[in-house]
Amino acid sequence: MIDIHTHILPGIDDGAARLEDSVALARAAAAEGIKTIIATPHHYNGRYMNPARAVEELTRTLNELLQKLDIPIVVHTGQEVRLHQELLDHFQQGSLLSLAGSSYMLLELPSSHIPKNTEQTVYELGLRGIHAIIAHPERNAAIIAHPERLEELVRLGAFGQVTSHSLLGAFGKTVERASWRLCEAGLIHLVSSDAHHVERRGFRLKEAYNRIHEVMGGEWSDYFQQNAASLLRNEAIADAPDWQGSAAAKRWRALKAFFKI
Ligand SMILES: [Fe+2]
Repeated sequence: MIDIHTHILPGIDDGAARLEDSVALARAAAAEGIKTIIATPHHYNGRYMNPARAVEELTRTLNELLQKLDIPIVVHTGQEVRLHQELLDHFQQGSLLSLAGSSYMLLELPSSHIPKNTEQTVYELGLRGIHAIIAHPERNAAIIAHPERLEELVRLGAFGQVTSHSLLGAFGKTVERASWRLCEAGLIHLVSSDAHHVERRGFRLKEAYNRIHEVMGGEWSDYFQQNAASLLRNEAIADAPDWQGSAAAKRWRALKAFFKI
């Protein structure tokens, strides 16, 4: 498995605090069957600044250590870039990182709303050859209330990434429900752990794929996993499987009618 959103690098955000925490996370990932991890420390979120160079150096150090310890995990560079006013300038200046050197960038919105410049930024990034991946849209209050706001971003070229813990209910019922609704609406393209700490917030990626298999069918769990592989190879992310007529689709239509969306 491939995990495209993690806070495995030590001492630079609210994820792994020390190198031994990073190693513990890597061991836990390997035990679940994860082989490839993209490190996505917070960047420009008002609390943490982790420009490209710092992330690249730490990733190199961690990979060397994992190799020495014989832990079969490869870590790639990335950032969880908070949407900010100067984002496009910073992209131009080279302080932003895409995921594993691909043309996909992980973009974080505030949890309460969708800032005014979001659509414009997604579009402008697209013009520069970068696809925005919206990190955990299921935890954004505006998207929970109005899923069509995410649909608009997807229409502008963005993709959606749901967090394993959200699907499994760890962030409460509202977020869990929103996660499945967005998946079933075809607005989620990738699943990842957003792992921060081996005990407090680990991976649960395999569990999430298993749950997707149960709820939506094997076609969907394969689809999400293939998209992570495509991203790593810098290939196009596929269209969602046709699920019209499935039980999931019927449930989604009922929900839509209930919420009048
Ligand atoms: Fe994150």
